[in-house]
Amino acid sequence: MAQSMILAPSVKPQFSFEGSRQRLGCFAPKKRQCRPRLLCDLRITARAAYTADSGAVEIPRQWYNLIADLPVKPPPPLHPKTFEPVKPEDLSPLFPDELIKQEATDERFIDIPEEVIDVYRLWRPTPLIRAKRLEKLLDTPARIYYKYEGVSPAGSHKPNTAVPQVWYNSRQGVKNVVTETGAGQWGSSLAFACSLFGLNCEVWQVRASYDQKPYRKLMMQTWGAKVHPSPSSITEAGRRILEKDPLSPGSLGIAISEAVEVAATNADTKYCLGSVLNHVLLHQTVIGEECIKQMEAI
Ligand SMILES: Cc1ncc(COP(=O)(O)O)c(C=O)c1O
Repeated sequence: MAQSMILAPSVKPQFSFEGSRQRLGCFAPKKRQCRPRLLCDLRITARAAYTADSGAVEIPRQWYNLIADLPVKPPPPLHPKTFEPVKPEDLSPLFPDELIKQEATDERFIDIPEEVIDVYRLWRPTPLIRAKRLEKLLDTPARIYYKYEGVSPAGSHKPNTAVPQVWYNSRQGVKNVVTETGAGQWGSSLAFACSLFGLNCEVWQVRASYDQKPYRKLMMQTWGAKVHPSPSSITEAGRRILEKDPLSPGSLGIAISEAVEVAATNADTKYCLGSVLNHVLLHQTVIGEECIKQMEAI
């Protein structure tokens, strides 16, 4: 963050986070008169201008379950061995009960636990930024906005679901969670969430990424996670790959197999997933719900 800040020469650094709405083309409530004190890059100043206002929108209190409004329900996930629709009892070695319920529920809105909202407050609401340059480039009368999720501690939207997943696990007394990571965003989000709620976190990072992105590995380790390159010799799935190809660069699929195997074979360990399932999508609706409120406030 410090890298992208430029201090105006005549201005002493004052971290009061004000910015000019008009100049930066970012969203801020209309009534506020902003004067720039600290010149930052567009994104940081845009966030500052938005979050500084005491009348800023509240973080949503509920997630929205899209399933409730789909005219045709999506097909259920299939059991990898039987190819039958998975039953809740198939999922319980991997996920805590509350997440399994969220996977299957038809309820339209689900309350966000207060403890999760408390953590969301570290970076939410995220900025809604007007893409003026894109509007100009397209020569359109439309006003285009984008929602910037990169302000989370891990740098992406992924903590939106990592935090509740870890919280529900901690409520059920789970002490260890495992996962895979490709680019490292999901692994670091889960490591961050585990550091908040005191869970042990183990991450299988795709070998190529493990070698190419040591800083992501360090981030996970800094948040207390144990990181293994995948394929690893720790799991049956990893060993089988390594036997055939000792220099395998790995893949997300292999890393998933390793993490799932560890969760499925250890009663005290659950698995966390960064996409695919409905409960993950559900948690990410905090972005859209918040965006609706911000749009209404413009
Ligand atoms: C199930 C699953 N796990 C892990 C990842 C990897 O995430 P990342 O590249 O952020 O590590 C993805 C990618 O979206 C994913 O779908």
